[in-house]
Amino acid sequence: MVSRVIPVEAFDLVIFGGTGDLARRKILPGLHRRFLAGQMPANARVIGAARAELDDESYREMVRGAIAEFGDPQDQDADGIARFVAQLHYVRVDARGDTGWKQLGRRLRKDVIRAFYFSVGPGLFEDLAARLHSFGIADAASRLVVEKPFGHDLPSARALNEVLARHFRENQIYRIDHYLGKETVQNLMAVRFANILFEPLWNAQYVDHIQITVAETVGVGGRGAYYDRSGAMRDMVQNHLMQLLCLIAMEPPSRFDPDAVRDEKLKVIRALEPVDPHHIVRGQYEADGDAPSFREDVGDPRSLTESFIALRCHVSNWRWAGTPFYLRTGKKLRRRCSEIAVVFKDAPHAIFGQEAGRHCNILSIKLQPDEGMTLDVTIKEPGPGGMRLIDVPLDMTFAEALAKEIDIDDVPDAYERLIMDVMRGNQTLFMRGDEVEAAWAWTDPIIAGWESRGDVPRPYEVGSSGPEDAAMLMHRDGRRWREIR
Ligand code: BG6
Repeated sequence: MVSRVIPVEAFDLVIFGGTGDLARRKILPGLHRRFLAGQMPANARVIGAARAELDDESYREMVRGAIAEFGDPQDQDADGIARFVAQLHYVRVDARGDTGWKQLGRRLRKDVIRAFYFSVGPGLFEDLAARLHSFGIADAASRLVVEKPFGHDLPSARALNEVLARHFRENQIYRIDHYLGKETVQNLMAVRFANILFEPLWNAQYVDHIQITVAETVGVGGRGAYYDRSGAMRDMVQNHLMQLLCLIAMEPPSRFDPDAVRDEKLKVIRALEPVDPHHIVRGQYEADGDAPSFREDVGDPRSLTESFIALRCHVSNWRWAGTPFYLRTGKKLRRRCSEIAVVFKDAPHAIFGQEAGRHCNILSIKLQPDEGMTLDVTIKEPGPGGMRLIDVPLDMTFAEALAKEIDIDDVPDAYERLIMDVMRGNQTLFMRGDEVEAAWAWTDPIIAGWESRGDVPRPYEVGSSGPEDAAMLMHRDGRRWREIR
């Protein structure tokens, strides 16, 4: 097995919100993994910045704890952790005041990449961006990383874009949608655009419909207040599912470069038709034994927010005219399973007769768990007794298919890959401002519609596939959801 890791150049990465949940769960354990893989150079530095009264040593201690709690069990070697935390520093900074900014400026080096990660609520973006400039800390070469949620609707997303644009150019801004950093999501582009096999069939003439499912087993946990304001539509569909839809539906870009790819994605979002309210099903999970219901989790017995949504939408362009895209996502469902299924049409003429049954090819792209792809192909069922047909999957589960080439445990997770892309200066897997705004422009009227109708989400059982009506959405069209497995 050959290591294909290419170290990035030296950098100073400042994490605002460096003691927060995201930093502890994802960013710092992710950097530690890249360090162990040899990708984070010895002269790179990470500077935690937050309001807590810490110094370098106590920050390192906190990060040790975060790696123990959220890092991989196989990455717990004390020596590796000690070498990693030696590259960490801490500056106490007040986003809304002047405390700490001069010290932060003095800590940064002149001749290395400077990146600033806003791992804080969007309410602080303006203050941080302005102070980075007024204290002369950020310049035209600095990079800025911002997290979702990027706005709550179109006006707030526009306002955020404007705030950032006052101090940073678009080619300095890296808006994270961590779904774009998932291995299979990028593989989707490779499969579509590096093979001749699929692209000729990738259109309304041959594709019956497309299903995108992101099912989770977790509930809203400790994020009740945020989630009650967002719901599945804002939390998942406007960003993650929309990005998956774009990668499936977009035209081949002329080059694999950031703007060429993002231009094509933007065209897809702009081609999305408004969604008919009859083609939307919203749900809320019920209580399960002692486990609280959705309404109990968010602390509002009358909440009308959805923890589940299924909808049918259309991309109105030549390629996809008439092909429905079914999107579904929810919490506390049967399994954690994210999958895109491209369901091809039946063969135009059934030469084997009705008794052979109906068969169609399905390309299924599994994002998690067990990343990989399968292509269902119809063959003759072996044995005597005439021509009986069965569908068998051509299985490309990565862990098995690539076992000789790669160790699947070494594949960087989404955050690791995206942070390294920031250091490489590659924006391909980040959302551009106009993309985010276009996604809100499509989402807002849908939400306004159910709010004005006073739409009440349907209850669904924990561990199910969502409300019955979601199944009906498909049945009415003579189709079925794929099982969540
Ligand atoms: C986040 C959402 O963006 O994505 C969460 O805010 C959700 O509600 C999470 O649980 C899902 O991410 P993943 O990578 O676990 O599928």
